[in-house]
Amino acid sequence: MNAPVDDIDRVMGVMERAFEPAWGEAWSRRQVEDAMLMGNCHLLLCAQDARPPAADEPAAGFALSRHGFEEEELLLLAVLPEHRHSGLGKYLLDQVKQTARERGAHRLLLEMRDGNPAERIYLAAGFAPIGRRTKYYRAASGDRIDAITFSCTF
Ligand SMILES: CC(C)(COP(=O)(O)OP(=O)(O)OC[C@H]1O[C@@H](n2cnc3c(N)ncnc32)[C@H](O)[C@@H]1OP(=O)(O)O)[C@@H](O)C(=O)NCCC(=O)NCCS
Repeated sequence: MNAPVDDIDRVMGVMERAFEPAWGEAWSRRQVEDAMLMGNCHLLLCAQDARPPAADEPAAGFALSRHGFEEEELLLLAVLPEHRHSGLGKYLLDQVKQTARERGAHRLLLEMRDGNPAERIYLAAGFAPIGRRTKYYRAASGDRIDAITFSCTF
């Protein structure tokens, strides 16, 4: 699926403020564009009141996922700081699960930086840790941080 250019603008508007630079988790515009060219990546945008944004409306959050055989990988999930703790993250996760299921997936996987407080939302949404990738991420300080793999079967 190719995302319209304005969708990428809306993603980057969230990306640039949602991720703390210290952890090096945010993707560049080029990385998002390349993912969307792969054909199996799917982008979901949400407005501040948990619905898809209108064409001329900025996004308050987004989820990017990649479909594989019978499973989907959540690549990115982000909500603007001022719109957090009102259920948008859960809404986006539910939408990813629903659309992934429609594509034939039975499992949603994700990698998360060890210690990311987002762990709580994943555990609450039915994910369980299934593995650890040692020193997978590189923080801005140069430190290497483990990634935890989470899985949710549906
Ligand atoms: C992770 C992230 C997407 C969560 O987004 P969010 O919109 O705040 O998520 P939700 O509102 O659905 O849930 C988050 C918390 O708000 C709580 N919440 C949900 N609705 C609420 C409400 N109406 N009132 C108060 N709290 C509420 C949830 O219970 C949850 O609480 P907890 O963290 O104590 O368990 C967001 O924090 C973010 O963008 N973080 C930076 C990027 C990032 O790290 N992404 C994940 C990479 S793996």
